Amino acid sequence: MEVLNYPETTFEKLPVVIFEHAAQGAIRIAQEIAGIIRHKQQKGKKAVLGLATGSSPIGVYQELIRLHQQEGLSFANVVTFNLDEYYPMQPDELQSYVYFMHEQLFDHVDILPENIHIPDGTLAIEQVKEYCQAYEQQIKDCGGLDLQLLGIGRTGHIGFNEPGSASTSVTRLVKLDPLTITDAAKDFIKEEFVPLRALTMGVGTIMKARRIILMAWGESKARILQQTVEGRISDEVPASFLQNHPNVSVVVDQWAALELTRIKTPWLVGMCSWDDNLIRRAVIWLSLKMQKPILKLTDEDYKDGSLSDLLVEAGNAYNLNIKVFNAIQHTITGWPGGKPNSNDAQRPERAVPASKRSLVFSPHPDDDVISMGGTLLRLVDQGHEVHVAYQTSGNLAVFDDDARRFADFALDFAEKQQLGVAQMRQEHAAVVEFLKHKKLGEEDSLLVQDIKALIRKGEAMAACRFCGVQEQHIHFMNMPFYETGQVKKKPLGEADIEETIAILQQIRPHQIFAAGDLRDPHGTHRICLDAIFAALARLKGQEEWVEDCYLWLYRGAWQEWDVQEIEMAVPISPEELLRKRKAIFKHQSQKDSAVFPGNDKREFWQRSEDRNHATAKLYDKLGLAEYEAIEAFVRYRF
Ligand code: F6R
Repeated sequence: MEVLNYPETTFEKLPVVIFEHAAQGAIRIAQEIAGIIRHKQQKGKKAVLGLATGSSPIGVYQELIRLHQQEGLSFANVVTFNLDEYYPMQPDELQSYVYFMHEQLFDHVDILPENIHIPDGTLAIEQVKEYCQAYEQQIKDCGGLDLQLLGIGRTGHIGFNEPGSASTSVTRLVKLDPLTITDAAKDFIKEEFVPLRALTMGVGTIMKARRIILMAWGESKARILQQTVEGRISDEVPASFLQNHPNVSVVVDQWAALELTRIKTPWLVGMCSWDDNLIRRAVIWLSLKMQKPILKLTDEDYKDGSLSDLLVEAGNAYNLNIKVFNAIQHTITGWPGGKPNSNDAQRPERAVPASKRSLVFSPHPDDDVISMGGTLLRLVDQGHEVHVAYQTSGNLAVFDDDARRFADFALDFAEKQQLGVAQMRQEHAAVVEFLKHKKLGEEDSLLVQDIKALIRKGEAMAACRFCGVQEQHIHFMNMPFYETGQVKKKPLGEADIEETIAILQQIRPHQIFAAGDLRDPHGTHRICLDAIFAALARLKGQEEWVEDCYLWLYRGAWQEWDVQEIEMAVPISPEELLRKRKAIFKHQSQKDSAVFPGNDKREFWQRSEDRNHATAKLYDKLGLAEYEAIEAFVRYRF
């Protein structure tokens, strides 16, 4: 297990432990919990645990289950109090925290049912106050919480103590913050279905725990984590109240730590050992901070920006400026497949072979055009053999209403053409019947899943045709890990890897483009990427083409690479941007409003264009050429 150790810093007001991977952090937390349970057991006492739900604790619970099943850890002496529950909420609903806790932990360990406490979302409103007081009393009667496990919301909430919560607040009914509601929408299918209120332990309740562990994984938590750890104590970020607790640890992965000063701008914290990468980061940071193009930065600017030691090492600003400017300049290419008959020593891609086999992996059926549509168009226009492999069916992200519309179409068509009408009527009736009775968040019938997958397949085909990708070069993988019919996916399996190997062997690409959401510990994109990594690792040393293959990573729909990371920047002209937009429009089921819009109200094409404009603007600000838009890639050396 690797813990990334950094020097103590004056910026951080809470003890933070950074792990390279979320899974390592989760194991460390589970070990501590197991230690408390065993210690109490030896003394013949109960261990009283405050538990959280959401995506953050899942890894911890998995490790606790493993410890129970493989190492004999018993939960017979464990009493639990969960932080919160939506209100109103029935315990058997898929979104309830009762359902979550049983599925993720309680059903797999030997905890006694009478020792489980989860706030009751079924109460009548007039019972709530008394119930909350009793919840507090129950915790006290058990001797208080030995440990409270916490995740953190993007509003800075702990439990459901949203901004504005008092440090002394107790268990109560609260209103959820609009941002929390948006984040919860993924579990409730639509934002309108998310309850507006919740029952939650108070900040004061949490602060009484003898030990607190706050965990955060993934880049989406980086900003709020920085405010919690480095900001002043304020009810605007309720998690910052933890700074007043004497025994708290913050456990994070490297991505959630990204905004901490020691990680983001280590030169502000202490002496650095400078390498090319760090120099590039520092100079770009300085240029943006001083609002000056790189080539105009002076010795004085370096000194004012706490970069004197870098200046000493490099001699003067001029040398540093030129070095970094040239490095960024060399990332720009209008030839993402390499420029034929040219010196490629300073270019991101090789000149030879002039015509390449390019394989674009797209986790969902629209990530290719959303994230790299301009580059895809260029590759086709420049005569490369472009293949697109859609890794999952994406059937989950289609509205029921669209499935019904296509089922109607299929029946109408069959009736009009007199084709297998009787059977089509049966299938159509089955779809109508299923959708009529479908519960919120319920898994679709296989028939409905099929229709939804076909809708997305048709859209991807249309987008590829529009971009000029040949039909025989379009591949639909339907990776099995995705096909659960639910938001929750299976872990990456052997069949997924084998399918990825098969497609790689078939195409033997010179270059691969893949969604590189390395910073997201969960989610479909990460699993799809892991499948590619696993497949390439197995093929390496076995097949010659692998040695010669470049793997380029694009970011998913949500974010762009940080400018200092970019290794290939493909400029997109205004006309190309318009063509890219039209390709994205082919994905009609995702248009106007998507089933999973995430936490961004803009449509996919708008996010994509905004992001491409922003990258171009950044290059411009740094003093490079001014383009309409830029798509960005990082090369992964496997
Ligand atoms: C859950 C809870 C919340 C979550 C927070 C983070 O019981 O109280 O505070 O911990 O919203 O959620 P995830 O882990 O899903 O990002």
